[in-house]
Amino acid sequence: DGGTGSTPAGTNFTAVAPNKADAVTVPEGYEQGVVIRWGDAVLAGAPAFDFENQTAAAQALQFGFNNDFAGLLPVEGQPNTYLLVVNHEYSTEPAMFRGYDAENPTEEQVKIGLASHGLSVVQVKGDSGSGKLVPEIGANNRRITGTTEFLVTGPAAGSDFLKTSADPTGTKVLGTLNNCSGGVTPWGTVLSGEENFNQYFANAEAVTDPVVAPRLKRYGLAGGASERKWERFDKRFDLVAEPNEVNRFGYVVEVDPWDPSSTPVKHTALGRFKHEAATIYITSDGTVVAYSGDDERFDYMYKFVSSRKMQDGKSQAAMRHNMTLLDAGTLYVAKLSGNSAGEIDGTGKLPSDGKFDGTGEWVAILRTGEDGKGESLVDGMSAEEVAVFTRQAGDKVGATKMDRPEDFEANPKSGKVYVALTNNTKRGVDGGAAADEANPRNNNKNGQVLEIADDHAGTTFGWNLLLVCGDPATADTYFGGFDKSKVSPISCPDNLAFDPHGNLWISTDGNALKSNDGLFSVVLEGENRGETKQFLTVPVGAETCGPIVDEKRVIVCVQHPGETDDASIESPASHWPDGGASQPRPSVVAAWKKDGSRIGS
Ligand code: FEO
Ligand code: CA
Ligand code: CA
Ligand code: CA
Repeated sequence: DGGTGSTPAGTNFTAVAPNKADAVTVPEGYEQGVVIRWGDAVLAGAPAFDFENQTAAAQALQFGFNNDFAGLLPVEGQPNTYLLVVNHEYSTEPAMFRGYDAENPTEEQVKIGLASHGLSVVQVKGDSGSGKLVPEIGANNRRITGTTEFLVTGPAAGSDFLKTSADPTGTKVLGTLNNCSGGVTPWGTVLSGEENFNQYFANAEAVTDPVVAPRLKRYGLAGGASERKWERFDKRFDLVAEPNEVNRFGYVVEVDPWDPSSTPVKHTALGRFKHEAATIYITSDGTVVAYSGDDERFDYMYKFVSSRKMQDGKSQAAMRHNMTLLDAGTLYVAKLSGNSAGEIDGTGKLPSDGKFDGTGEWVAILRTGEDGKGESLVDGMSAEEVAVFTRQAGDKVGATKMDRPEDFEANPKSGKVYVALTNNTKRGVDGGAAADEANPRNNNKNGQVLEIADDHAGTTFGWNLLLVCGDPATADTYFGGFDKSKVSPISCPDNLAFDPHGNLWISTDGNALKSNDGLFSVVLEGENRGETKQFLTVPVGAETCGPIVDEKRVIVCVQHPGETDDASIESPASHWPDGGASQPRPSVVAAWKKDGSRIGS
């Protein structure tokens, strides 16, 4: 499956030009179509979506809002049939309800908001002649929402930090919130990261306890009323009435999509932070390594190494065992050092050795034993504290402050690990930590992509920057050494995926180059290393998420179309995908080659 001439396999398409269209744009010779939209039926009995007449009961049966991560799992024995598992990161009430009054939401609007969060499991059927996918009401279809019961496992389960008046056991949580990126595990489950959970909780400013207040602050909890005002109708979102509810969010959750009656799990052995996904690498002896970033300016990169080994096969016994793999092992946080540290001046100028590169160390902070009990490896903190206030453990051991670690994934072809560092406009600004070799630009608007050669189950690594993103015409960008006159501009890398050839694909969120977000291929190996090409663009105001790049199909989640601060565009800023005067609807899109051949061939 070699490339054409000098074009590496899988990247032979004509790059899409940057644009501001209210449409999904794909290369010449490709076609695309919506798979499923906010409000489409997931479960039997779901009413047809009616923007003007929404109910929480309907939303609980329909596809949720703001799709982010997507996983596509083949259904065994049923050719061309898959489970599509999608995260619904957050609700945007002003875009969801006509005439929404942000100061006085109704109870029904609050309940719809809760029901629009979580995940969807939807069976989809492929088409023999194209990459088209059609949703159907399959036996495994499921909606998980902001009120679905979860079981807490790991060292924080049952701790005082997790006990509430509704759950004195500290082990049963209602709902998952702000599920951003995720990962499909090799044992057939789906992981999902609870990211910006702070935004749902009210009245942090009224908490004055000298131990609790700094914890809230470290997790971005501030102010009085929350943006959505859920606390008016559900006291668990009021930090004064229910101080521990917030400690029950910010975890990696695991869902078994093959059993709609199963109780999903929150794994506290992986720590609590603004998890951007958890993705799995299996070493040769079956050890599981889970990588996860904490998406905050100046926050950290983590990995968890299991003590248990993965069992092969899809038996129920294997699934039961494998769903405990993330409950025993060691949690580490990353410390990086650059080999040209003295030359980093914050401008993005390449050091004299020609690379932003160096070495790193994984610092162990929490060990969870076979009995589920934790052992703290951080002075002055208990195991439960490390599991629940993980950021403070990272602070204490001097972890490296990164430019917002988003998706973090190992390439199945090479084993090399990649991290999207999306941006950090506070780097070197107003007292924010100064640039270093891994985060080499002050006021970093465009982000960078880190490549790690990791000793996966070990504690050391080497690293370099694959991309320093932005407009290739500017001196502060770097594209793996490739000719910058031949690449697409790229800004704010967020989600990562690998195609069957081992090329990296990157979706973006927040394009600072004043055009729409999109999906890009990046060559990793050989003389074209760093060649970056835009494959698609998404509509006005949308971010591109959840990319999946299979042999003959590309899937992206189009999140928050129309969400723009460009005041020159009349609201709603997007009418995608339904057109006309319609409200925009977050949707999943598939793209394929019209002639049925492989993507990028
Ligand atoms: Fe929800 Fe870090 O993006
Ligand atoms: Ca260097
Ligand atoms: Ca993200
Ligand atoms: Ca993002």
